Amino acid sequence: MAAGIAHDVRNLLSVVDGALSLAERNLESPALISKYINGARDGIERGHKLTSQLVDFSAGHVVTARAFDANELITNLVPLLNLSVGSKARINLQLRSGIPKCRVDRAQFDVAILNLVVNARDATPPGGHVLICTDCVEGSEEARGQHVSVSVQDAGHGMSAETLEKIFVPFFTTKGTAGTGLGLAQVRAFMNSVEGHLIVTSAPGLGTSVNLLIPIN
Ligand SMILES: Nc1ncnc2c1ncn2[C@@H]1O[C@H](COP(=O)(O)OP(=O)(O)O)[C@@H](O)[C@H]1O
Ligand SMILES: [Mg+2]
Repeated sequence: MAAGIAHDVRNLLSVVDGALSLAERNLESPALISKYINGARDGIERGHKLTSQLVDFSAGHVVTARAFDANELITNLVPLLNLSVGSKARINLQLRSGIPKCRVDRAQFDVAILNLVVNARDATPPGGHVLICTDCVEGSEEARGQHVSVSVQDAGHGMSAETLEKIFVPFFTTKGTAGTGLGLAQVRAFMNSVEGHLIVTSAPGLGTSVNLLIPIN
């Protein structure tokens, strides 16, 4: 848990660092400086929320789930996601309008999407695309009843069957010292906490799709 939050905070710190570097490289444009400073501030605020969540957790408080519109959460995250993929890839959205709200802890949801987008970025060649889709699904093979579906897809290098078997094992990484192996463990813990379903499909050379099915209750 603590290692997971440390990893999430590290992700956010690299977003802040990236935003400040961009501001530094654009000193001639006050509009860009202001944009990147706002991005950095957004990352810092999220870091604050995460660490106060850790404090709440160690004090015995329960993580707070509320009803949220997944489309709104994702739209609010886009500036941060853009900063984390940088110029390497583009983020495309396909948000189904009018989907029902789902009960999630907002900070956990945000961190899960950030983790998935960072993984997609790492797997994608320069100039690639990361697609985030939402939908409302009813009675799929994996999950009975109504669910909000959020998926993050890339057309990157994909995974072998051998890698795919280990992706949820905490600290499993194929990225050497650049990886922590905690991103997907966080996503799985989050999905367990909402009693949802997590479906990962991947093919070497073709790409990866991670689908979060969040129950509506
Ligand atoms: N979108 C993806 N495309 C290809 N491989 C992926 C993708 N997402 C995750 N992986 C694989 O799963 C491993 C574990 O991911 P994660 O838990 O986020 O840790 P980390 O990103 O620090 O390695 C990665 O090292 C990588 O091998
Ligand atoms: Mg990762």
